[in-house]
Amino acid sequence: MSDAAPLTNDEICLSRGTDLKGVGCTRGDMEAPVLLNPERRMLKVMQAKGNHTWDLDGILSACEWKDQAVAVGAGHGLTNHGLVTTTEHVRQTVKLAPEGVKAAAEGLLEHRLWAWIESADDASMAVLQTSFERHEAGPGVGLLKRLGVQLNQGKFEAEHPDQVTAAIAQRTAFIASLPCSVEESDSDMLELFKSRRGLIEVIEHTTRTWTMTEQGQSVEGKHLEEKVAVAEITAELLQSEDWKNAEYRAFDVTLESSTPHTGRSHPMQALIERVRAIFLEMGFSELVDDYVQTAGWNMDALFIPQDHPAREMQDTFYLENPAAISLPDDLVKAWGDIHEHGGQTGSVGWGGAFSKATSEKGLLRTHTTVNTIQYLAKHPNEACRVFSVDRVFRKEAIDRTHLPEFHQIEGIIMEEGANLQMLVTTLKTFYAKMGYPEVRVRPAYFPYTEPSLEIEVKWRGKWLELGGAGIFRPEVTEPLGIATPVLAWGMGLERLAMLVLGLDDIRQLYISDLEWLRNQPIL
Ligand code: PHE
Repeated sequence: MSDAAPLTNDEICLSRGTDLKGVGCTRGDMEAPVLLNPERRMLKVMQAKGNHTWDLDGILSACEWKDQAVAVGAGHGLTNHGLVTTTEHVRQTVKLAPEGVKAAAEGLLEHRLWAWIESADDASMAVLQTSFERHEAGPGVGLLKRLGVQLNQGKFEAEHPDQVTAAIAQRTAFIASLPCSVEESDSDMLELFKSRRGLIEVIEHTTRTWTMTEQGQSVEGKHLEEKVAVAEITAELLQSEDWKNAEYRAFDVTLESSTPHTGRSHPMQALIERVRAIFLEMGFSELVDDYVQTAGWNMDALFIPQDHPAREMQDTFYLENPAAISLPDDLVKAWGDIHEHGGQTGSVGWGGAFSKATSEKGLLRTHTTVNTIQYLAKHPNEACRVFSVDRVFRKEAIDRTHLPEFHQIEGIIMEEGANLQMLVTTLKTFYAKMGYPEVRVRPAYFPYTEPSLEIEVKWRGKWLELGGAGIFRPEVTEPLGIATPVLAWGMGLERLAMLVLGLDDIRQLYISDLEWLRNQPIL
């Protein structure tokens, strides 16, 4: 890097390709490849001696290196750039293996046995077995037999003892001649000893010599200045001016690497954050409220009849503690009037007798509408856009698509002139921002909204129901003193998560399957 101009990202990437022949290796004047420091040093040393053929020792001492891998690597790099020619010589050497070292010192097994036979008074198998260990006697006799020694009535005999002695001497000489190169060694002996375990081994050495090419000679000295290579970009580096002239160490993006598993949000939490961000961006404020509630707020306020099946014990978690939470008399009276005969709304109500005790029952909220309705009761005259993403509870049998505890995305818009069109547009906008542009609504029924609708989203070619919505009925708004229209919706978060994460079983979200969790996309 000859100039001091700041590097752009592209330039940094280019200068990383140093190992790739001809790919992005040049910058500045187009002729000079960007070399690694060892390559620079080696080429510089070679340029000083022109046509010389360098061997490893020569390079190591001239470059003042101890590690031959550095020299071999640099030579390889320079060769890739066409600046140097590498000649490889592969040499095979025969050398003694551990058993061979022992044989060279103590004599080959056949040598020792034959010496014993020649000097023994009684060269019989029986005596041999007392003079040699079992593991030597057995194989030793085999060796001798192949050399022409026979067992005759228990005694060792050879027809041509001189030949046996000579053959053994030849073997001993071979062992003594090692190490030597494969080419120089006696090929018959080599084959013989290769077939015996642990006596010899053949080792390959690759030696290299390097000569510089004309192109190598022509690289200008200024390109051979060694620079400190930066392997890690640190804050210090960026704060100092050094980064401008620094050399950045090459890294190979195609290498396999381990995936770092750092802490991260649970996909469900990440999804909640995304939903939040979208509503906040759309001008809503968030409502966070308790999940211990009264049946009064959870149901009566929403004009759900007191004998509605959804109120049954098998659908709703009623609490033992608190079993009842007291409610103001006037509120209960207002709800009672509405339920019994429609209050001042012109509605006929549900009829029957309204029960305060039923109203005061403690329960775990079955929907987050219980919170938005209380928000409205507290702020009946202020236009608002409020949302919540929170947990609700229903006595559901757990299966692929149901959990007793799940989340709803709830929201209301109270505003003069708010209408159905606005409700549909708001929901469509939300889902479009979530990445689901195809949304449709269908007529539905909820006791507390009129009109009521169901929201469906197209996913993998199918329409999936994700929630309910509507405009609060006068039976809901009037007892609370609300005069402006209120648009309201409640949508399943887990259902949405199934789409976003491509799940076919909702339980996957909560089983803490680490492998699965690690592989989830960042939402
Ligand atoms: N509370 C409804 C449910 O739990 C959804 C809903 C909310 C419908 C608001 C209309 C208005 O499914």
